[in-house]
Amino acid sequence: MNPNKALWEKGDFTRIAASMRDSGKSLVERIGITKDQKVLDLGCGDGTTALPAAELGADVLGVDIARNLVDAGNNRARQHGLGNCTFREGDACNLDTIEDHSFDVSMSIFGAMFAPKPFDVAKEMVRVTRPGGRVVMGNWIPNDPTLVAQILKISSNYTPPPPEGFVSPMTWGVENHVTERFVSAGVPEENISFYRDTFTFTFPKAPAALVDEFRNYYGPTMNAFEAAEKNGRADQLQKELEALFNAQNQSTSKDSTSIPATFLHVTVTV
Ligand SMILES: C[S@@+](CC[C@H](N)C(=O)[O-])C[C@H]1O[C@@H](n2cnc3c(N)ncnc32)[C@H](O)[C@@H]1O
Repeated sequence: MNPNKALWEKGDFTRIAASMRDSGKSLVERIGITKDQKVLDLGCGDGTTALPAAELGADVLGVDIARNLVDAGNNRARQHGLGNCTFREGDACNLDTIEDHSFDVSMSIFGAMFAPKPFDVAKEMVRVTRPGGRVVMGNWIPNDPTLVAQILKISSNYTPPPPEGFVSPMTWGVENHVTERFVSAGVPEENISFYRDTFTFTFPKAPAALVDEFRNYYGPTMNAFEAAEKNGRADQLQKELEALFNAQNQSTSKDSTSIPATFLHVTVTV
């Protein structure tokens, strides 16, 4: 089985996405999705950004490599009465079932960054976007001191080194790499812009309970715990993550969690 697909089908990302809904909605509003636009959400998960885009009146297609998340997205769209939002299985490296120039906006929020062939991702996102349309990405930033970059960094200290030739997803958080990928997809450099943006994770329990959600349901953290358990280091990993989540929690109540995380907001005019 494709290891990229296996990683995301392994857990249940809907459990993590539950802490991302408010920020997903406000991010979509900042992106400026409008009624009647055709929008692709690539690596959409269960629709944290796809559903709010559809609620704004756009015609939305969510594409994700994980079958369980596609099913969860279609269920959520149905529950919300959104006939203008559908989810389909697909790989960001090869969108061969989608015609050229199909979308006004092709967005990928912490999604396509996890696909293994970044140059193919940039090429495909540009290809399916109409001339004058926009590609928008939200990408975590390597070595950033905030939550997700630190979870991935801590987890990587407990997992075996990746196979040779593996390109870290975090390279999507480095402006030079992003520029190189979109320029090689045919976009002029001056059409690519960046700013630092914030996404806040909110959870109605203490930070340690959110760590448990990551431990039990988030593929990369599940893998880190599996590896750590084999070396008798799972308790140490748990402590490191709890210390991180507690230090970053900005909630005024100790029984709830609100953690802002910085990401690179990329806009490409095609
Ligand atoms: C961190 S989750 C983010 C999900 C969603 N965008 C959100 O913000 O809630 C990463 C998502 O990217 C998807 N993904 C990873 N690799 C992919 C690929 N090659 N093609 C399409 N989706 C992919 C995963 O299945 C997962 O749903």
